Amino acid sequence: MAQSSIPRSPQSQDTLALSSNQIASVDRVPRRFELGQQLYLENCSACHIALPPPVLPSQTWRQLLQDTQHYGRQLQPLVDPPRILIWNYLQTFSRPLDLKEEQLPFRVERSRFFKALHPRVEFSQPISVKNCLNCHPSASEYNFRKLTSEWTDSP
Ligand code: HEC
Ligand code: HEC
Repeated sequence: MAQSSIPRSPQSQDTLALSSNQIASVDRVPRRFELGQQLYLENCSACHIALPPPVLPSQTWRQLLQDTQHYGRQLQPLVDPPRILIWNYLQTFSRPLDLKEEQLPFRVERSRFFKALHPRVEFSQPISVKNCLNCHPSASEYNFRKLTSEWTDSP
């Protein structure tokens, strides 16, 4: 079955059992990152869906948390401790880029980490926060594992 090609981590079983978990369909994060994840979702999903940390390098997240100038919009500055808790969460679930070798991407479209998570997908349209939903029907619930049948049924 095509479904089996989607890697499952050992945690996903527990996740299903934990009905109290707010984001039941996504791997549960270790307890010490739960608050950071929750604050991330509260602060970063008001205007667009919250992007999952692995799609961008750690340094990109760091900059985004420090900057109130945000893609042409003005953000409320994040204050500590929430900011540091969000950073600990984002940093733990993303990877740094070697900036001596590569430029820091500020768009998922330009991020090779995003591309690496999509081995089967040949993107034909520009990628933005708005079109994740085309293939990830539960993206607004922060679930990027669920795919449209077009993708679950194809090899
Ligand atoms: C006040 C509204 C607002 C809030 C709150 C907000 N953003 Fe954004 N964000 C935007 C807008 C507008 C864009 C640009 C959308 C576009 O051009 O497609 C954007 C784009 C982005 C992008 C680039 C996506 C891409 O690849 O095109 C990232 C990453 C991002 N935001 C992260 C965050 C993070 C992290 C937070 C929380 C600290 C946050 N956003 C909070 C409005 C917001
Ligand atoms: C054209 C369809 C399509 C679009 C648009 C798309 N994805 Fe995906 N995504 C997939 C498919 C299919 C997979 C499974 C990996 C594969 O088969 O390439 C996937 C996998 C992922 C994964 C890994 C999930 C896991 O199993 O851990 C993440 C994270 C992800 N996508 C995030 C995003 C985000 C964020 C956006 C929007 C900026 C997006 N995707 C847009 C089709 C898409």
